[in-house]
This record gives sequence, C-alpha cells and structure tokens, in this order.
Amino acid sequence: MQEKILILDFGSQYTQLIGRRVRELNIYCEIYPYNKYPEIDESVKGVILSGSPFSVRDEKGPKPDLSKIKGKVPLLGVCYGAQYMVHYFGGEVQPSNSREYGRANLGFIDSEIDLFKEVTLGSQVWMSHGDTIEYLPESYKIIASTGDVKNAAYKIDGETTYGIQFHPEVYHTTEGKQMLQNFAVDICGCKQDWTPDSFVETTVALLKEKLGNDKVVLGLSGGVDSTVAGVLLHQAIGKNLTCIFVDNGLLRKNEFESVLDSYKDMGLNVIGVDAKQKFWDDLKGITDPEGKRKVIGRDFIEVFDVEAHKIKNVKWLAQGTIYPDVIESVSVNGPSATIKSHHNVGGLPEKMHLKVVEPLNLLFKDEVRRVGKALGIRKELLGRHPFPGPGLGIRILSDVTPEKVRMLQEADAIFINGLRDWNLYDDVWQAGVMLLPVQSVGVMGDERTYENVVALRAVMSTDGMTADWVHLPYDFLAKTSNDIINKVRGINRVVYDISSKPPATIEWE
Ligand code: XMP
Repeated sequence: MQEKILILDFGSQYTQLIGRRVRELNIYCEIYPYNKYPEIDESVKGVILSGSPFSVRDEKGPKPDLSKIKGKVPLLGVCYGAQYMVHYFGGEVQPSNSREYGRANLGFIDSEIDLFKEVTLGSQVWMSHGDTIEYLPESYKIIASTGDVKNAAYKIDGETTYGIQFHPEVYHTTEGKQMLQNFAVDICGCKQDWTPDSFVETTVALLKEKLGNDKVVLGLSGGVDSTVAGVLLHQAIGKNLTCIFVDNGLLRKNEFESVLDSYKDMGLNVIGVDAKQKFWDDLKGITDPEGKRKVIGRDFIEVFDVEAHKIKNVKWLAQGTIYPDVIESVSVNGPSATIKSHHNVGGLPEKMHLKVVEPLNLLFKDEVRRVGKALGIRKELLGRHPFPGPGLGIRILSDVTPEKVRMLQEADAIFINGLRDWNLYDDVWQAGVMLLPVQSVGVMGDERTYENVVALRAVMSTDGMTADWVHLPYDFLAKTSNDIINKVRGINRVVYDISSKPPATIEWE
C-alpha cells in the first residue's frame, strides 16, 4: 500500500506548492478539495490543511469535517487551516491590526517540539493573512511567535495536531522544508521512499494489471509529457501500444522527422502522419486566434481518429495529462480560468468511444522530467522548451500560408539553434519567434525592401503562469538578427520582446 500525506485544499494559491514540497522529500502526497476527500485509511500517514482566500469568520469560508482526522492522524494546519482549528474549537480569530503580510522572524520557538527540530531561532517565515489568532482554545499551546504575532504556531495537548499561521511551503520561509520534513517524517513516520524509480516500478506494474492484453493508442507531440507517457506505457505493454505523431504543418523546422526518428530509436511503435496540407487548407483565410485554434484542434481529432481506427480492437486512449490539470479540474474554486480548453485535445475520448488511461496524472511537471530521466529518455528530449499545441499557427499573427510557415520556421531555427550554440538554451524556459502582420521598409544593397518583421521571445518561468523576459546578451541578439535578415528571404527587421507576464502573455495570440 502506497503510504501518503493528504493535503486538503481550501482554495489557496499555494496548495500545489505544499504538494510539491512534500514530494521533494520523496514522500507521496495527494491533494483533494476539503469537502471531497477519500476515506482516511491506513495508507494516510498524516493530513495537511491548506490556506484559503476566505476568512474563517466568513459565512462562505470552508468548513471541513475533521471528525475522522483530528486526533486520529497527525494533522498540520497552515494559515487558514490553523485558524480554522482555533475558531471552531473555542478560540478566537480576528482581523489583524498589525501587518501580517511578508517576511517575519520567529523570535520564540519551543525547541522541545518535534515540528521545529533543527529550526533555528530567528528563522525567517512568510506570513500572508488578514486574520490573526487572538487567543487559543484551552488545550492549545503556543510553540512559536514572531515580533507581531504571538500565536504564530501551536500544538494541541495530547494530539499530534499542529497549526502554523505562516506558509512553510513558500521559498521565503527559509526553513519551511525542514518543518515539513519534521512533520512528514518524524511526526507522521513517512519513509521517503517515493522516488522516480519507485514510481516507474509501481506504475508499470499497475498499467500491466489494468491494461492486460488490451491495445492502447497514444498521440505523441514531441513534448515531454506525451513522450514520458509513451515510454512508460511501452515498458508496461510493449507492442500493444501504438503511438501516432501528426505533422500538422505547424511544427518547427525538421521537427517531425527528427522527433519521429528519436521515437523509433526508443523502440516505440509509432506512426507518423503527414497531414500538413489538410491543416493548411483548412486554415486558409482565418485570422482570429481562437478560430485558428479551433480548426487545428478539430483537424487533429479528425486525423487522429482516422489513424486510430486503422488499429484493430483498440480499447484505450492514453493521454499525457499531468497532476496540475487534474487538481484544477476538481478545484474548490471550480475549474480555473487559467486552464485553456485548447491545452488538451478535449473531445477525443468521447468521439472515439475509448476508455482513457493517464499514467502521469499524479505527477507535477518537474517530476515528469525526473521520471523521464529514470526511464533513460535522452536529455535533449526531456529538456526541450514547451511548445504550444497549435504550434506556429498562433505565432503567425495573421492568416496561415505555407510560405509564412516556411519563413517562420527558418527564423525560428536560427534563433533556437543559436541559443543552443551559445549555451543559452537551458537558461531559457521557452523561446520562439513571432511573425508579425507588419511590413516595414528596409534597404538591402542598393534596393529598398518592404518586407516582414519578426519578434523574438525568450522567457524564464516555472509553470508558464508568470514569466519574465530573459536578458539575452546583446552580442547574441545582434548575431541572431543579422543571420535572420541575411538568410531568411522575406524578413528585413527583427525586434526583441521585452514584456513580462502578466500583463503580457508568452504567446502573442
Ligand atoms: P500564454 O501565451 O498564455 O502561454 O502566456 C502560457 C503557456 O501556454 C502555452 N500555450 C499553449 N499551449 N495550446 C497549447 O498547447 C495553446 O493554444 C496555447 N497557448 C499558449 C504557451 O506556449 C506557454 O507555454
């Protein structure tokens, strides 16, 4: 039985971060909405209650039923979670008078308490709340304070129940990881044996059992998620897995051929489908970004469906869905606006009447990479920048034509290869080139030109939700601009995008 920590989500922006921190300790955890969590069986070694945008004094504030948890398994309340256990058990939570946002230091720590083992006095913590705990219920004992916040942390007598008003999961709480480790390892008794290798081993066994001798089809995109899903399934069921990789005519230069070759090298049973012309035909004249996305999504489903039906008796559709998508889709706040419907191939399973298998649906992105490494997938494939599903279709900021695709592919290849040659590729989270719907005047030799402008984009990010533009060296930008203008017919001007997200987005469409 896989031992785990349960994290109950009250809607805080930091909940997933708690999950990632616990996983970084090689301890498996699962996140559930506070009102839809599974039975607390022996596999649950402890529970963490997250923060929340609500106040415990709000009518609408989450009111979890803790009767099967509190006093029965180790429990750690963070921020709202801590305040909730005070408010509903006889203490008092009030709006705070002093500033309780940002950095603070623990001026008092009860060093006898296991939660703070090896945590130094004066340690920095991160506060983010509008309410504060005024006084604690009788059996609660203060175990840490800051200058402004007396009840910064408490323990309940006779229980392994703790509350902390600061956020151990954020980077600014410098010893937060130690606290989470103290809780999960020392207090809950977790073994720290959840590693990429153990994940591969258990998942392969589970997939074997679930899929038996059934046939499975998977769409590969060249991206990290689908690649790792493919290799994992291949280990489990071998030739019963058929992968389909579609050339939609909107991929990077030579991408289709080179990625197809690497898939074959890895032993995957993969069918490459050249559907370029269909996509280009159907995109003719469409300028609206969402319109383009719709056509690309629809065409993909059509092409995939035709190919998949050529495989006899296929029962399952595999998808590379990862954990953040799963959490978001059942989130307390409802599916988040940040999940774009076009990010996955919605509608495919329904249309194909197939059962769905998602071998990565419990992993965060960085874990997918680590699992990929454990599976022996080459670094060049695992370290690839993200690339949007609609590809160059949304980097051509006007209607798509084969000629524009050619131009953009050439410019993009110069930029991306340059990043590799200058050892800058891994310092950038995502890079690409946009073909603008703008023409500008230039001179080449004795002639005036009136040609296209491209914008280079390179950003740093962890999850694409926020991003900063990268300060690429001027020498590199100068060389790239020269190469593009000299070598790509039809482009006579290059600009560099220096906008961060928010308020700008990474893509231009
Ligand atoms: P934005 O432009 O929203 O992009 O800042 C955030 C991340 O999402 C990718 N992206 C997409 N991925 N289909 C995808 O599969 C899309 O339609 C799409 N639009 C944006 C973008 O490349 C970046 O990594």
